[in-house]
Amino acid sequence: MLNRRHFLAAGLAAAGGVLAGPAWRAAQAAKEAPFLVLEPKPATAPLMGPDDAPVPVWAFHGNGPGTVPGPVIRTRRGETVRVRLKNGLPQPTTIHWHGIRIDNTMDGVAGLTQDAVPPGETFDYAFTAPDAGTFWYHPHNKSWEQMARGLYGMLIVEEDSPPDVDRDLMFVADDWLIGKDGKIDEKSFGNLGSWSHGGRLGNWLTVNGLTDPEISVRAGERIRLRLVNTANARILAFDFSPLNAHIIAMDGQPAAPSSLGTGGLTLAPAQRVDLIIDIDGAPGDTIPVWEVSTRQRLKAARFVLSKDTPLKKRPPEDAIVLASNPLLIDPKTDGAQMIDLVMEGGAMGGLREGRINGKTLSIEELIEKKLVWAFNGNVGRQIKPLASIARGRTAVINMVNRTAFPHAMHLHGFHFRVVERNGKPVYGAPWRDTELVDRDEQVRIAFIADNPGKWLFHCHMLEHVAAGMVTWIEVT
Ligand code: C2O
Ligand code: CU
Repeated sequence: MLNRRHFLAAGLAAAGGVLAGPAWRAAQAAKEAPFLVLEPKPATAPLMGPDDAPVPVWAFHGNGPGTVPGPVIRTRRGETVRVRLKNGLPQPTTIHWHGIRIDNTMDGVAGLTQDAVPPGETFDYAFTAPDAGTFWYHPHNKSWEQMARGLYGMLIVEEDSPPDVDRDLMFVADDWLIGKDGKIDEKSFGNLGSWSHGGRLGNWLTVNGLTDPEISVRAGERIRLRLVNTANARILAFDFSPLNAHIIAMDGQPAAPSSLGTGGLTLAPAQRVDLIIDIDGAPGDTIPVWEVSTRQRLKAARFVLSKDTPLKKRPPEDAIVLASNPLLIDPKTDGAQMIDLVMEGGAMGGLREGRINGKTLSIEELIEKKLVWAFNGNVGRQIKPLASIARGRTAVINMVNRTAFPHAMHLHGFHFRVVERNGKPVYGAPWRDTELVDRDEQVRIAFIADNPGKWLFHCHMLEHVAAGMVTWIEVT
């Protein structure tokens, strides 16, 4: 069933490689059909551009050579996705399906929902996605190294009736730390300095695994752009002006359309945004997209308009609104279970001591173990959960950031809504699975604990989670 959208997407992949990797239809892997095989293993990727040597990375191999990002998995709500992870790495790994309100046994968290898969072994994942939207997958064991080396990919759950756009494109942004030798800087893995500050920040920006890639479009087209920040720790921001861009979804859930304006779009690690962009320009134009999170604006990618005659412009009032996903229920916070989460530690955080399973350790002992961040005084994942919630009950987590850094807090298994920020109620906030909590900020989130199991709750700055910013909740 080739409609225009699929045709254009396929054509683009062949022409520019902007859609990295083959798109798999999970339907092809129906019941008795074989699993889609995803094999993470060493590869090289042309991260730095055509004039530089390809960079040794770790990449997911699908039914073709390994690519960064990994193969795109496309599915529909209710379809079963079956993936066989075949570990081709020199260390154990897993795959986590970020943002999918998944069956707990398939969540891919090493040490909590499954054992890490040793080198050479396999693990079979099978799940159905309840929500249409933009999701992604990545390892959940030693993520700070495995994701920094290139292991991640997009997981797209198509809408029952997809919006009327001319192209459906991806914008997978990553921040790499490349050494003078043009290779991934390995010496910085596990560096306590970056673990206790803002994480391992990179020096090289890629979009879809390429440097300043060309995104081929045609004047007058309306495109859907699915953005994800896959960086270990860097908060990215993109400026699409002068193009007219609208947010239609966040973290895989439809959101009330809002115009981006000129401020740019901020994406914390792991966050996604779906944009609708009208390509307003003349045939042959090039329109850059800038990364604007630092004072030094960087070219992130560029839209290159073909010479074809422009398509007729869409009337701006003809906005695209995605139907909300049917299974999300708005949490009512009266009678909710209240859970406190105080975030402490890190550089300039004044942490003196911390507990591991009830035992108090001095800061010197904690530094020795590279555990320098705490939630409620506990460092790292404890044997006991942060909270145990009866299935179906509403839970409210009150996060208070007493550290000197922002944190991108991610809850597995649920989407939540911010209901209060710095003491003020918030109404109608978008559904998210990852929320940025700034230094000195207080944020309350609410969700209905309708998905039983053990669910991780952690900072998605991967050095922070490795150095202690991780806990979990249990829904019984
Ligand atoms: Cu995207 Cu626990 O992670
Ligand atoms: Cu953090």
